[in-house]
Formats: sequence, structure tokens, C-alpha cells
Amino acid sequence: AKQIITVIPGDGIGPDIIDATIKVLDKAGCNFEYEYADAGLTALENHGDLVPESTLALIEKNKIALKGPLTTPVGDGFTSINVTLRKHFQLYANVRPVLSFKGTKARYENIDIITIRENTEGMYSGLGQTVSEDGNHAEAMSLVTREGAERIVTFAYETAIKEGRKKVTAVHKANILKSTSGLFLKVAREVAARYPQIESTEMIVDNCCMQLVMNPEQFDVIVTTNLFGDILSDLCAGLVGGLGMAPGANIGNGCAIFEAVHGSAPDIAGKNLANPTSVILAAIQMLEYLGMADKADNIRRAITDVIETGDRTTRDLGGTHGTSDFTQAVLERL
Ligand code: NAI
Ligand code: MG
Repeated sequence: AKQIITVIPGDGIGPDIIDATIKVLDKAGCNFEYEYADAGLTALENHGDLVPESTLALIEKNKIALKGPLTTPVGDGFTSINVTLRKHFQLYANVRPVLSFKGTKARYENIDIITIRENTEGMYSGLGQTVSEDGNHAEAMSLVTREGAERIVTFAYETAIKEGRKKVTAVHKANILKSTSGLFLKVAREVAARYPQIESTEMIVDNCCMQLVMNPEQFDVIVTTNLFGDILSDLCAGLVGGLGMAPGANIGNGCAIFEAVHGSAPDIAGKNLANPTSVILAAIQMLEYLGMADKADNIRRAITDVIETGDRTTRDLGGTHGTSDFTQAVLERL
């Protein structure tokens, strides 16, 4: 039977970059069947709901989704759709690799870092959110559990082994956030001791930001809590040419959603300017997850050649072309 993928085109630049990615997957001979679903603003307009039940049911059925960015309306009563999806399907690991390509405007040429972000707890637990009646006092709760910390740190070490990597850095703020970050660090040290074949280091998050900018080559796999991982992974994207280059996989037990790290980019939506590389790289993560490494390698080779030769690249990479020309250049190489 054909592998069925749930496809959520999403908002803003989403439909264009998802469409580009589907063309690439088809041209590479992946032979998937796609079932489309709405989420985000598109879903609010079409179904009166940011995340319709039918969309949740489809993701549940197919277990694999490729998702465009979603716009979360600002204001009361709208919780982030991405947070909702990650919690609903217990997608506890957010895997965000960044890899340098030569010939872009990026500051560095030899970056190869995977950030593994805990995806269901931390400051994004959604717990204890209150604002006083006068609006002058706000609270939110950060959550770290031994179970959650242990499964994400273990996931990071297992990823390091699977991908032949050498070092895992646990990033924390245990010196100030004694309870939450303290527990995360304690568990990270315990897990590290089970993997003597991997070098384990730890770093306080503010220093980590500085180190990532000054000397990013020292990093291999980073594992951290939700908020730090969100911020550090955008920082990492900036090391390799920006958000258009940064994919992410949300992985749980038996279910996974693949997406770009960036949002719906309303400033360039509908202008054929978006770089689809982020979602194409997310599709490569999906192929690797599905055990289709040969297809993943073919697509990676094609996209690397387009970017490194500067053949029809988008503006964020220093080129002058649009989404459709860039995609065409990738398709020609497949
Ligand atoms: P954004 O990530 O959409 O855009 C930030 C900057 O990066 C913009 O200048 C944009 O043009 C540029 N950019 C992003 N993707 C690009 C691409 N593929 N090619 C070229 N340039 C690209 O962040 P922003 O503007 O803060 O958020 C916009 C909306 O996206 C918000 O509603 C937010 O909630 C949502 N969002 C959704 C995410 C998701 O669905 N996973 C993640 C982050 C934000
Ligand atoms: Mg983010």
C-alpha cells in the first residue's frame, strides 16, 4: 500500500512552499498519497476552528504529517496551534538541524548542529497562566518532570549515536532557575553517564548564545528545554542563512509532524519570494524517518547543487529568483 501523508498547507507562504515540496517529492519518485487538511487561519475561515477535529483525526489516522506554517491570531482565547498539536499528539521531541551550504550569504560555512528541543513542557506547558483583573500582574508556570527530561535527553543521545555524532551539550539555566532547570540538568547528567561513548558537555543558556555566535563549530547536538530550544534554534538558523534554511521534525511515539522552523512570513506572502528549502529539508527529515534514505539523499544532493551553484536562488540566499524558479531548478536536477 502507498504511504499516506497528511498535508497541511497552512497560512501565508505555507501553500506555496508546501506545493513546491510536494512537486520535489513526486519528482524524486516517492510515490506517496497525500490527504489534505486545514489548520490555522485558513481553518478558522473555512471551518470556524483553528484546529478542526477532522484535521486531528486525519493526523491520528495517517501518523505522518507535512505542515506549512500557521498563523496564530494574536489575542485572547487563541492558544498557539503548534503548541496544541504538539501536546495533543505528545510530540515530545523537536529536532531542528542546521547545516551550512557554501555560496550563500551566511556567516559560516561549516555548521552542522542539531538542536533537540523538549516540545511539551517547560515554559510552554500552558499551566498556571493568569492575569489579574486590573491586568497588572501576570503569571505562568514552567514544568519539568523527570519523565519528560529523561525521554528528551535520551532521545538526544540516541540521535547522536544513530547519526554518528560525537558530542551532546545540555543547555540550561540551573544557576537561577534552580527547581525546573535544576531538575533538567540533574537528569541530563544521569542520562549522560549512560553514554560514555559520547562526549557530554553542559552550558548555561546565555553563554551558549554567545558561544553560538562566536564559535559555533564547537557544537554538535544540543539538548534543552522548550523555550531555550525555540530561541536557540532560530539563532542556529541565522548561522546558516536564515529561517528559509531551517527545518524541524516534531516526533512522538508513532506519530510525527514535519515542518519549517519559521512562521507564515506575512511580509512576503503571496509574492513568490519565499525560500522553500526549509520545508524541503523537513521533507528530507520525513523520508529519513520513513527509512527512505536514498530518496532523502537524492533530494539533498539536488538542493545542495542549486544553492551552492547559485542557480536561481531566492533573495534571502543572495539570489534574485522566486519560489517557483528555485523549485524548478531543484526539479531539473531530479
Ligand atoms: P516568520 O518566521 O513568519 O518570519 C520572520 C522573518 O523571516 C520574516 O522577515 C520573513 O519574511 C522571513 N522568512 C520566514 N520564512 C522565510 C522563507 N521560507 N523564505 C524567506 N524568508 C522567510 O515570523 P513572524 O513574522 O514573527 O511570525 C508570523 C506568523 O507566523 C505569526 O502569526 C506566528 O504566530 C506564526 N508562526 C508560526 C510558526 C509555525 O507554524 N511553526 C512558527 C513561528 C511563527
Ligand atoms: Mg519558534
